[in-house]
Amino acid sequence: MGISPEEFVLFSISLTAIICLLRRSPRFKTNCIKSPPEASLILVLKMVVAAVRGNLKEVLKGHQLLQKRYGSIVAFPLFRTFIRPCILISDYQLVKGIFKTSACFARPNNGFTIYYFDDEVRGLGLHHDEAKWSEIRQFTFRKLQEHGTGKNAFDAISADEASLLITQISENYSNKAVPIDDLFSIPMMNVIWRVISGRRFDFKDTEASRVYHIISKFFSVGDLKTVIFLALLAVLGNISNKLLLWIRFLKPLKTIREFFIEYTKSSKENFKEGEINTFTDAFLQKIQEARDPNSVFFGRVGEENLAATVGELLAVGAKSSSVTLQWITLYLAAYPEKQEILQEELDSVLGGRVPTIDDQKVMPYTTAVIKETMRIATLFPAGVPRQTTEDLTIGGYHISKGTIVASNTVAIHNDPDIWEDPEIFRPERFLCSNAIDKPFFPFGTGKRSCPAEHLAKHNLFIFVTSIFQRFSVSVDNTENINLNPKHYSATLVPSSHNLVFCPR
Ligand code: HEM
Repeated sequence: MGISPEEFVLFSISLTAIICLLRRSPRFKTNCIKSPPEASLILVLKMVVAAVRGNLKEVLKGHQLLQKRYGSIVAFPLFRTFIRPCILISDYQLVKGIFKTSACFARPNNGFTIYYFDDEVRGLGLHHDEAKWSEIRQFTFRKLQEHGTGKNAFDAISADEASLLITQISENYSNKAVPIDDLFSIPMMNVIWRVISGRRFDFKDTEASRVYHIISKFFSVGDLKTVIFLALLAVLGNISNKLLLWIRFLKPLKTIREFFIEYTKSSKENFKEGEINTFTDAFLQKIQEARDPNSVFFGRVGEENLAATVGELLAVGAKSSSVTLQWITLYLAAYPEKQEILQEELDSVLGGRVPTIDDQKVMPYTTAVIKETMRIATLFPAGVPRQTTEDLTIGGYHISKGTIVASNTVAIHNDPDIWEDPEIFRPERFLCSNAIDKPFFPFGTGKRSCPAEHLAKHNLFIFVTSIFQRFSVSVDNTENINLNPKHYSATLVPSSHNLVFCPR
């Protein structure tokens, strides 16, 4: 029995409708859109060995090979099986597009999080709940601006700490070879701590010193021991994972957590309503005003968020700034001709007077030096990773919910198709009019980009101008100069060097 024309039309319409519906269903997409290609294990292992050795050039070569072979999105081998899927994106437009969406907002839940209170994460940098994160983020961003650039209080603090550093170098290290590994850490820690608490760090206080050393240690995870340890975690079961994590990481982190909980308690006791001089005062005031029990500022949860947020600001802020300053100083010592151009600009604009942030507008070369260092030695080579909260499509690939997404920032900043001779330190490239169109994002991009970008830039400007106005910096032995990082891990930390600060 044949079908009538009406039945045929009805059948065709129904079939089309079913196909259209199916195509919109995530399950259909999952089956039809391919997953990103997985990188060859051998190639990745070679890159890990180069990274552990701090051989940036080899790692960048590896990235170029990966990109040539697989395109701009590549999945890491073993991750899918042992941890969870993880992809690396080497195309800035894709990173920019995806990092501003809510689907790629969360941070990976990595077990390192110390700011769990009753199993809920607190603070800013690791929050998974977008609404709660947004409340803390907006507040923190505004207050960092107010206690920073807006009211110029931050600039004054930064200038004060820079001047103390200059005095310290003049009195103790003038014309002597001095290791720079830790030279800038305490001044940077004090800048952030003064914005947060109004106080300088007291290093005679053993607890404060301990916290500082733990922060430093965590910032340079990436030595061979740690990489092997992390590899072990990947292949071991869950219980042993947790045990190892506890011994190696969580126990020292607990010390930091307790320090900031104690700090919050004592700040609360000393807080006088209406007297807002610091970030902590502003946070405590907000806690006092909070009436909505669901607010991140309400009651006990508000206090836990304060402890976690100040801890993050200090840990991330101080170390990011001091390591970046270390890189800038090292590059300028390695390239004396660039240092000379910088000093000519300093002398012509400042004469002998103390630099202020307003000088930045008329000191393009100094700004270019800071940018070029942040390009060539990208502090966070893979940004700070995110995790998808739903299935989505990126660059034509299906990315499943729970995938770790990292931006290949260091490879983009060193891509020869974008930056001419990327391996050469050439601040002048940032003076060209087309530099503005090039992908340059050391502070990240999208919803979770660094909330302290302005503050960090101001701080670096004040320290760089203050140091190079007063000293010429050189390497104690030019043959020893090594611009490779000590190791290539979550952060790029420079190799140890002794530098000589010669008064000008
Ligand atoms: C040269 C200095 C710095 C660099 C290169 C830097 C870079 C970054 C990057 C790449 C991210 C991740 C962005 C993303 O996920 O897209 C980030 C986030 C963050 N940074 Fe910075 N940063 C610096 C200084 C600071 C300072 C001084 C502070 C605090 C005073 C700070 C606090 C934070 C916080 C709290 C986050 C997490 C934001 C969130 O998840 O919402 N950073 N930073």
